[in-house]
Amino acid sequence: MKQSKPDKGSKSSGSKSTRAKPASAKVGRSKTSAKWLQEHFDDPYVKLAQKEGYRSRASYKLLELQEKDRLIKPGMTVVDLGAAPGGWSQVAVNLVGHKGRVIASDILAMDGIAGVTFVEGDFTEQEVFDRILAVLNNEKADVVISDMAPNMSGMPDVDQPRAMELAELAVDMARQVLKPGGTFVSKLFQGQDFDALVAQLRKQYQSIKVRKPPASRSRSREVYLVGTGFKA
Ligand SMILES: C[S@@+](CC[C@H](N)C(=O)[O-])C[C@H]1O[C@@H](n2cnc3c(N)ncnc32)[C@H](O)[C@@H]1O
Repeated sequence: MKQSKPDKGSKSSGSKSTRAKPASAKVGRSKTSAKWLQEHFDDPYVKLAQKEGYRSRASYKLLELQEKDRLIKPGMTVVDLGAAPGGWSQVAVNLVGHKGRVIASDILAMDGIAGVTFVEGDFTEQEVFDRILAVLNNEKADVVISDMAPNMSGMPDVDQPRAMELAELAVDMARQVLKPGGTFVSKLFQGQDFDALVAQLRKQYQSIKVRKPPASRSRSREVYLVGTGFKA
């Protein structure tokens, strides 16, 4: 499963140099957050990510999708949405190699990764969308990957529409920047409007698969939609 060692270089452009500060730690953790922390540190993917130098356990979701669907190849141009802290970008930059390009974006700041151009900002804002297009400089992308997810409140009526909005914006970016035959990968949460979005994508791509990589926690409604053969 391991690729060559993730690059910890610091080339980044279009981003502020400061990293988002974590919210100050609360004195006396709730039972729920203590349980989450325990689960997090016991998680084999968290341990593996620490051992192999990946910034997040999410790297293994992309590696597992890659193993199944061979999404990213050397020399490709990849757009990575919702990229922070950079686990998917690390995987993508290794796969595209020196002749490829990775353009990553997130509302949060991200430490630089050699070979990755980073655009910081809220993807729901047109200005951020336009800055990503400007970095592409009229070049089309081979692959758009989105792992964007809102901060979850735990209330499905609030979380699901926010997650769907981000997914729809990622669909829109893919529609604008992908080469004919290109590939789109997006995190989606099963729930309201899920089927409608999948139906819409079936018209835009030759093949649509709904994947649940082993690294995605089984209790999460999260799945990954893999669209291949973009019909320009
Ligand atoms: C699951 S994390 C991504 C993890 C990442 N793929 C990795 O491998 O490290 C989801 C990301 O979506 C980002 N996000 C949420 N809302 C966003 C928005 N409106 N614009 C841009 N990014 C957003 C979050 O800041 C967060 O970094």
